[in-house]
Amino acid sequence: MSDNPATTAVQQALAERFGQEFQVDANLSGLEALARIAGCRSHRRFLPQAVEPDLIRLLCACALSAPSKSDLQQADIVIVSDRATRQTIVDTIPDMPWIMDAPVFLVFVGNGARLPMMSRRRDKPFPNNHLDAFFNATVDGAIVMTTFMQAAAAVGLGTCPISAIRDYPRIVATALNLPPRTVPIAGLCVGWPEQPGEITPRLSLSTTVIENRYGERDVVAEIEAYDRRRAALRPYRRQRNPERWGQASFYGWSQDKARQYAEPTRTDFGRFVREQGFCLD
Ligand SMILES: Cc1cc2nc3c(=O)[nH]c(=O)nc-3n(C[C@H](O)[C@H](O)[C@H](O)COP(=O)(O)O)c2cc1C
Repeated sequence: MSDNPATTAVQQALAERFGQEFQVDANLSGLEALARIAGCRSHRRFLPQAVEPDLIRLLCACALSAPSKSDLQQADIVIVSDRATRQTIVDTIPDMPWIMDAPVFLVFVGNGARLPMMSRRRDKPFPNNHLDAFFNATVDGAIVMTTFMQAAAAVGLGTCPISAIRDYPRIVATALNLPPRTVPIAGLCVGWPEQPGEITPRLSLSTTVIENRYGERDVVAEIEAYDRRRAALRPYRRQRNPERWGQASFYGWSQDKARQYAEPTRTDFGRFVREQGFCLD
């Protein structure tokens, strides 16, 4: 470990995250920013302290400075400042009280409406209403959300994305008066963290970073190794749905995810997206 606190912070965060040592050149610029990214975590407990609207506006501007596919600028941010509107959304997600507790709640939206509108106004055909158009708008929105999270972390704010707003997307669309050809990607809780939070271990880089081309590998063994590493560091507090699956003697990440996705979720999201006017073919 180095004498430079930022170097040490990067190394410690990544060692905890991946169970591996990483070489960090202490002369690199931007090590504080790297340490923040390496130590990234979701926050679900917030101080009862407001976040100034001007700061949110500043962070929105920073977030919307992110790159955009073909410069199409297909991401929007909805600041849900009206408590009743937020409550309407939260009523569809009763098991996540942190959404109502967060001082600020945003919804990131992929907006595929402006492009065909411009084509009409410029008297041009728009032969591109297909899956890629939906994908581009969604990717843009997700990049803007990630950039917002990093900007928020840079000023000391904590965030937690909320894809559960897509459980009942029609209710969210009505509450936010979403126009046709827009789709809610995720909500985002924002506030001053009440506690530092924890690093969640991730799959090892040997599982998720590929050089040149995918080859033969024992993904099952890699996931099992991750299950053990993660369970040693951050064991699950509760097993999911023991009524259906019983109590596992060893309960790791892959068991949890397999149980989670044994229940059908958002099976009608595609229909909602089509009804919003996107074509998914
Ligand atoms: C697109 C997206 C959607 C998410 N949706 C939710 C959500 O609905 N509720 C929630 O509590 N956390 C949500 N999360 C947070 C994840 O649960 C969290 O990122 C993951 O458990 C890893 O933890 P970490 O962010 O602390 O590393 C979401 C994260 C992402 C990126």
